[in-house]
Amino acid sequence: MSIITRRQAIGTAALSATGIALAGTASAASAQGPAASASRAGAFAGKHTPKPLRFNPAKLTGLSERLITSHWENNYQGSVRGLNTIETRLAAAMADPDFPPVAYAGLKREELHCTGSVVLHEYYFDALGGNGNPGGSIYEALDDWFGSFDAWAAEFRRTAMSLAGGSGWCILSYNRNTRSLHNYWAFDHMHGAATGAPLIALDRGQSVDGTLTNAK
Ligand SMILES: [Fe+2]
Repeated sequence: MSIITRRQAIGTAALSATGIALAGTASAASAQGPAASASRAGAFAGKHTPKPLRFNPAKLTGLSERLITSHWENNYQGSVRGLNTIETRLAAAMADPDFPPVAYAGLKREELHCTGSVVLHEYYFDALGGNGNPGGSIYEALDDWFGSFDAWAAEFRRTAMSLAGGSGWCILSYNRNTRSLHNYWAFDHMHGAATGAPLIALDRGQSVDGTLTNAK
């Protein structure tokens, strides 16, 4: 006879309950058809809302208030609106059994593009507004993985500068597969290391002189 722990028992019960719930959802969906399900599913709801800036854009060093405000209002919020539109169009396309696959591919590409833009811009803006002095556990982790904080910063800058002349992202990521930290190069909003969880994102489209070199 096997002996299970209380934790395992709770987990088994939770899985069972989830299975029941999923089974109920699946039977309801199949009864009404996938197109009807898509029209009201959260994945296609188009309800994303912009995340507010967490700092005063008038008090940044090296980036003007006008630049940051314009970037947040136009580029970032434009992607939020675009993602909402795409999601509702995906639902409409799912309701059409004759919708061409090549056209669906276009919608899926734009979904990925807008999702990347929304997520990476939120990491970008959230990293601004501090005093520039690193500390805490992230400082220690960067020291461990790059040899020193300065060595990490040098590689981060070099990675960003390797995108010179265009747009793109430099992303400090936690690789969940290897459980390690890396600075990843991303050519556009759709680039990202598999299993990489962003920690800090630098928008290369925003040049050091405070202009948008390739507004996206
Ligand atoms: Fe941007």
